[in-house]
Amino acid sequence: MKEEVVTVENLRKSYETYLRRGLFARERKIVEALKGVSFRIYRGEVFGLLGPNGAGKTTTVKILSTLLLPDSGVATVLGYDVVKEAVEVRRRIGVSLTVEKGFFWKLTGRENLMYFGMLYGLDGPELKQRVQRMLELVGLEELGSSDKLYEEYSLGMKARLSIARALLTDPELLILDEPTLGLDPPSARLLRELLIRVAHEEGKTVLITTHNMFEAEIVCDRLAIINKGTIVAMDTVDGLKRLVSEDITLEMLVVLPAKVSLKQLREEISEVVSGRVEVDPTEEGTRIRVVMKPSEKEQATQEMLRKLHSMGCSVRRIEVKEPTLEDVFIELTGGK
Ligand SMILES: Nc1ncnc2c1ncn2[C@@H]1O[C@H](COP(=O)(O)OP(=O)(O)O)[C@@H](O)[C@H]1O
Ligand SMILES: [Mg+2]
Repeated sequence: MKEEVVTVENLRKSYETYLRRGLFARERKIVEALKGVSFRIYRGEVFGLLGPNGAGKTTTVKILSTLLLPDSGVATVLGYDVVKEAVEVRRRIGVSLTVEKGFFWKLTGRENLMYFGMLYGLDGPELKQRVQRMLELVGLEELGSSDKLYEEYSLGMKARLSIARALLTDPELLILDEPTLGLDPPSARLLRELLIRVAHEEGKTVLITTHNMFEAEIVCDRLAIINKGTIVAMDTVDGLKRLVSEDITLEMLVVLPAKVSLKQLREEISEVVSGRVEVDPTEEGTRIRVVMKPSEKEQATQEMLRKLHSMGCSVRRIEVKEPTLEDVFIELTGGK
């Protein structure tokens, strides 16, 4: 049985804001940030909340981190209610909502972690070892940056330190709000690898939010797509892709010998594949597109190549196009 680490049931949250109408006049406005959000996260998985700005991601993770009260609905972490048993929840989670908040600029990374470790009730050799272990885990030790001043840290190092801090108390659940936001691509990549390692090797359960589909695709075991306060789909990456289409598109660019016409080419290709075949002349050569089931990919490709070879066509490029998370997203949210 998969153990449920996070249970979120019909969570709602509205904010009250004021719109300025002239110098003194203002108009009260209610923003419904969460309109009944439900999901579950199981032990050892990286679960992603993927959605555009304003979707309700931060609101959700703040409620789970006990920093914000929901208007209604229930959220529990390891069976503890985030509202009624907030202290128990806090003991079991590690949170990083903004990368830079709360660190001391004039202390080193290690000193910062020692400080927070003490705040969290660690001390003595245990504290020292734990800090050392975290510096190693997030790769700051390897970079030789553990004993550099925080003010000299790059954003990538700060992001790692923030994760090290969140992991100091050995929490079962790690909650990270847009952990790679603003990082340069190599740092973002290292951080993603770290998150996967934390979940799959350290046995932690990880909840991350992101607006980056590429990131969601590589990091998350399962994810929920959230838009305007509502979860519009939830599954594994492959499962979500299947929502859009089961089919893949094989695209080839070939050069035809003068004696072969486009019509002839289409007929010949149609003999070896079951799906629709399109043949179009382009500047670079003739483009062949075939829609097929994933299961026929291997064999159909082989037969097409054999066919093309026997007709004297030379193949310049072959590309397999599978649906992307972006396709899913656009389909589910109407592109907005
Ligand atoms: N403190 C706040 N006061 C008023 N509106 C807010 C506040 N925080 C968030 N919102 C609004 O709630 C909605 C969801 O915000 P948020 O949870 O931050 O989304 P995300 O993290 O996905 O970008 C947005 O429309 C946002 O403008
Ligand atoms: Mg946010």
